[in-house]
Amino acid sequence: MEFMNVIRTRRSIRAFSSQEIEPDALTSILKAIRSCPTAGNLQAYKVYVIEAPEKIKALSKAASDQDWIAGAPAVLVFCIDPKQSETKYGKRGRDLYCLIDATIAITVGHLATVAQGLGSTMVGAFNEAAVAKIIGLPSHLKPHLILPIGHPAEEPEPTSRRPLDELIERDCIDENLNN
Ligand SMILES: Cc1cc2nc3c(=O)[nH]c(=O)nc-3n(C[C@H](O)[C@H](O)[C@H](O)COP(=O)(O)O)c2cc1C
Repeated sequence: MEFMNVIRTRRSIRAFSSQEIEPDALTSILKAIRSCPTAGNLQAYKVYVIEAPEKIKALSKAASDQDWIAGAPAVLVFCIDPKQSETKYGKRGRDLYCLIDATIAITVGHLATVAQGLGSTMVGAFNEAAVAKIIGLPSHLKPHLILPIGHPAEEPEPTSRRPLDELIERDCIDENLNN
């Protein structure tokens, strides 16, 4: 799908059909994630691909009982590696850059699902310790955000956005900004 169409048609998708994800589509999404910019090119994050139904069910429970997650054929768990960022950038790396790395990665992954005809939603509401246990995370990694993905079984209306002239401060007035 053409990039601006991906941006325009993207929605958070929280209902999935039973159709499996084609392996090539998943590989494309993972490669898109890998291509992202990261601070100092440290790539201070790791992505766990969870496809075992019992683990997906447990993740859904750990995510404040968001039942819709259990219907996803795959769940990507984006984890940060604060120590890796800290080695080069100290406190700023540990507290900020690794989070930005993983956030950019999930954003591109979310958009890549749309480009592949799939759907997903970023999930931030979860119990970190529970998720770490379910996916067997080593202690130096921390779960940051979760992306359940699958074939969409809903077509949500677009959600509302603030007007551009409220969101953007610009030194020259553009009459076309809200057109
Ligand atoms: C950091 C972050 C955390 C989120 N956590 C959740 C979540 O736990 N559950 C959920 O259903 N949606 C979650 N969302 C999705 C938002 O609710 C959604 O993006 C927003 O309502 C706008 O809708 P849209 O994505 O369809 O435009 C999260 C989004 C972000 C960026």
